[in-house]
Amino acid sequence: MTRIRAAGAAAILILSISSCAKPEEVKPADAKAYMIEHVQPAAQNYWDAVQYVSDEKGAREIVPTNAEEWNRTVEAARALKQSAEILKQPAYAANRGTDWQDFAEGLAQAAARAETAAQSHEPDKVLEAGGTLYNICTACHEIYLPTPVRLGPDPHNSTQQ
Ligand code: HEC
Repeated sequence: MTRIRAAGAAAILILSISSCAKPEEVKPADAKAYMIEHVQPAAQNYWDAVQYVSDEKGAREIVPTNAEEWNRTVEAARALKQSAEILKQPAYAANRGTDWQDFAEGLAQAAARAETAAQSHEPDKVLEAGGTLYNICTACHEIYLPTPVRLGPDPHNSTQQ
């Protein structure tokens, strides 16, 4: 009797493990929440690192000034690279067109370039890589967002009040 019950429990365990592994049973994840909690903050940190600002104090450039600030910029790019890999997973990619993977891969590559740019400590390269990132965000959103959204300052032309 005990043995049968133990076998039953093992069978249930195996069933629940295998049902988790079936891709078609992956529950769709909330892309919007993931974007707001992870993708947007990382991208914002990257874009904020290098900016041309024009306000009452005149036009000037904001750039990372020490190793810690540069590292934060590198980390922001790495976070985006990881997010791109997460977006490729079935929880986010299921039931999307094949272009979903292309956009996610585009984000991975843009984030990798952004990381290299930040590692070079060259503001112009960071600005350019930030622009490329921005374009891939918008490209995917054009297809997959029900209503268009503004993603904070365009890194090519940011003005702070
Ligand atoms: C692979 C496609 C894809 C890429 C690349 C992508 N997004 Fe998204 N994004 C989505 C989808 C899908 C949603 C959610 C749509 C919905 O359900 O409302 C979304 C939503 C958002 C939202 C919430 C918008 C709202 O409705 O309030 C923000 C913010 C956002 N993304 C930022 C970014 C940023 C920043 C980047 C680039 C660094 C980026 N996204 C790249 C697919 C993508």
